[in-house]
Amino acid sequence: MKKLLDEISAVVEKAFEDCGYDSTYGKVTVSNRPDLCEYQCNGAMACAKEAHKAPFVIADEIAAKLSCNDMFAKVESVKPGFLNMDISDKFLSERINLMGKEEKFGLEENNNPKTIVIDYGGPNVAKPLHIGHLRPAIIGESIKRILRYTGNRVYGDIHIGDWGLPIGLLITELRRRKPDLCYFDDNYTGEYPEEAPFTLADLEEMYPFASAYSKEHDDYHQEAMEVTSKMQQGNRAYRALLDHILRLSFADLKINYGNLNVDFDLWLGESNAQPYIPDMIKDLEERKIAEISDGALVVNVAEEGDKREMPPCLIRKSDGAALYATTDIGTIMMRVHDQNPDEIIYVVDKRQELHFTQVFRVVRKAGYVKDDMKLVHIGFGTMNGKDGKPFKTRDGGVMRLSNLLNEVEDEMYNKIVNNHPVDDDEEARRNAKIVGLAALKYGDLSNQATKDYIFDIEKFTSFEGNTGPYLLYSIVRIKSILNKYAAAGKSAEGKVILPSGSKAEKDLMLMLAGFTAMIENAAAEYAPHKVCAYIYELANTFNHFYHETNIMAEEDEMKQASYILLLKLTKEVLETSIDLLGFEAPERM
Ligand code: ARG
Repeated sequence: MKKLLDEISAVVEKAFEDCGYDSTYGKVTVSNRPDLCEYQCNGAMACAKEAHKAPFVIADEIAAKLSCNDMFAKVESVKPGFLNMDISDKFLSERINLMGKEEKFGLEENNNPKTIVIDYGGPNVAKPLHIGHLRPAIIGESIKRILRYTGNRVYGDIHIGDWGLPIGLLITELRRRKPDLCYFDDNYTGEYPEEAPFTLADLEEMYPFASAYSKEHDDYHQEAMEVTSKMQQGNRAYRALLDHILRLSFADLKINYGNLNVDFDLWLGESNAQPYIPDMIKDLEERKIAEISDGALVVNVAEEGDKREMPPCLIRKSDGAALYATTDIGTIMMRVHDQNPDEIIYVVDKRQELHFTQVFRVVRKAGYVKDDMKLVHIGFGTMNGKDGKPFKTRDGGVMRLSNLLNEVEDEMYNKIVNNHPVDDDEEARRNAKIVGLAALKYGDLSNQATKDYIFDIEKFTSFEGNTGPYLLYSIVRIKSILNKYAAAGKSAEGKVILPSGSKAEKDLMLMLAGFTAMIENAAAEYAPHKVCAYIYELANTFNHFYHETNIMAEEDEMKQASYILLLKLTKEVLETSIDLLGFEAPERM
């Protein structure tokens, strides 16, 4: 189904053409003066010069032409040459009825679907998820859902950090604690045990210890580097330990991301890209794309017109170790091989911008990606505390994600029970989880991703204002009306949405009609905040309609059924939208 604006534009464009002007002047936009009209067209002004006529003469002609079209309730020409339009109630309600019947509310089919990989995890093994992993997870998950909804083939990849020094540190620490394990016996040739010689809790305790210890003890640090390098070169025992570490970490990550309602299609990591690296390095050397500089292998990526200094991209350090950039280049090669994507999107902290610029330039320079492949870094801003500095725990440490979630849930629980005395505490707890997650995610997503924002638990969990709980509350309100209607033994089945009888009702229909244009735009700009802005306005419009209209007391059954169908559609659009943001609404609140 054509988007509403396109449909109106088509009619106005035709009118321009029929009057002897270029049809392109008929482009219609949503009015920027909603007090005067719903839609406007400024084409008469643009076309005046070419036509050698006064703009209002042209506008008058077009208005006369359109006045007999029953798409419009009003077409006015206003000096110096604006066209102001309102669409007719009948045309609008017919459209809304259609929208309710069509799949995805009439979203036009994507005739250029893309294969897209989104890289939006980036946790590191053996380190618990912390606050820094929150934004990529929330934003990436939503962008993935939006792009999928708009008809693309999308793969979410967690891209776990499983290849660097942290693994070496863990193995070194394990050897110090349990030197007699078969993994540390050079003469051992048997199979390694299936059971890991540690638990996840052990790892989580060992890592910070080893990391701190290595900073104080250089020999320990050297040993960890050696172990890392041996592991990277394929040492059998260390690889077996790596597998244990990965297995335990993955199980834990699945639970933690699950609690955030985030999931990945690809559970791959830095280690999966390693097979591509030796050949890549050889190729870069042979084709002289890379050069040796101070013993290191680098690719010069500076380009004419660079506004700031662009250091060369380090591919291999003088001691032979591969680097973060090397792994990301290898990962791109792996993705080209496995998914052959049209687009790779990285949802990673904006402080890594230089890194991605360098990596993207290297793969383009080397021709590792097709020219029209899009590489996008969506660099998100920092989540700050109320003091405007990066969010910390009360004692100044990095907060675990699970602790943050618990804090939000507790706050939500208090708000829920203060709001309404509960008879079912278990339900209140369950709801606190659902609504708390919405509060957290909406608080994040309603900001443009690139901006920093302040984590304000008080504000995020409020039932009033531009918050997740307010939106859920609106959905729950609709659910309760629909339930009451059904409980009265009524059904709107087979009935239709009638032309609106009030401004509030028409406003609600107009909002609904804008859904498909909004979602296409949010997809094109990778912008979940546009979905947030839309549903906030939709919820406001619905609440206004609800307060102005006595739905349950309406005696005309057709009219009442029409209200119910309109509410049902509003609920479906809101539910679809929050699903695209990655959260859901409870049954009651
Ligand atoms: N593990 C990395 C970190 O902790 C983030 C990875 C982001 N993704 C990427 N493809 N580089 O900083």
